[in-house]
Amino acid sequence: MAKILAGVGTSHVPAIGAALDTGKAGEPYWKPIFDGYQRSREWLAKVKPDVVILVYNDHGTAFALDVVPTFALGIAAEYQPADEGWGPRPVPVVKGHLELSRHLAESLIFDEFDLAIVNEMAVDHGLTVPLSLMCGQPAEWPFKVIPLAVNVVQYPPPTGKRCFALGRAIRKAVENFDQDLRVVVFGTGGMSHQLHGERAGLINREWDNQFLDGLTQDPQRLVKIPHVEYMRETGAEGIEMVMWLIMRGALNDNVKEVYRFYHVPGSNTAVGNIVIENK
Ligand code: DHB
Ligand code: FE
Repeated sequence: MAKILAGVGTSHVPAIGAALDTGKAGEPYWKPIFDGYQRSREWLAKVKPDVVILVYNDHGTAFALDVVPTFALGIAAEYQPADEGWGPRPVPVVKGHLELSRHLAESLIFDEFDLAIVNEMAVDHGLTVPLSLMCGQPAEWPFKVIPLAVNVVQYPPPTGKRCFALGRAIRKAVENFDQDLRVVVFGTGGMSHQLHGERAGLINREWDNQFLDGLTQDPQRLVKIPHVEYMRETGAEGIEMVMWLIMRGALNDNVKEVYRFYHVPGSNTAVGNIVIENK
């Protein structure tokens, strides 16, 4: 049977991808970030998942404001890196896992999560930057990826409670899939950041670290955080962190934190990374 082994939380700052792609990862501004992910990369290389369910948000790339699905599951054999205005990132094509995608769609929809089904889409920095941070620059990504896109761009995004419950349903679906697959779930976006207006550049270290603590110590507290608290305390784009609750919901009650990294600044964003294993 398939099994979820662990979850990873990580930011997706696009400038990190650009730094890597243009050979600037060793520069003083970026080096601490790539160094800070080193242990996570080593951990992931040892865990060797077959599939990563990658919970992320699209930034008006595959879904512009004409269609904004709350949850959208990728069911494709592959996903091309998107052109976000300066050409696609020079990263490998993202290979999907069709059978597990189809099984997830059926199981989740029969569990009454009315997901949008996406048979073709390009994936933006929300998906490819987490892959770069966690895998470096391989010729091929070392696992299959199932993209699960979440609307955190246009009001109203889903609640933390709904995200956590979706994670629970993902766990059930994976555990009922009859191929021996090692699965890791990524929750991406965040941490605190605001990109526009008077509060641009807002960072809240204390809140972010309490959120990281809560993932292992008290996820039920995090599930109750209202949207307005994310936005007031961590900036408008801090709302991306609800996606980490899908990852947490897909893990067991009993988990252990393996590693955490927190760094300011990465562009306008507090860069956060956590690795959580099922006990
Ligand atoms: C930045 C962060 C994001 O999450 C994003 O989607 C775009 C830009 C930034 O900090 O620059
Ligand atoms: Fe973002």
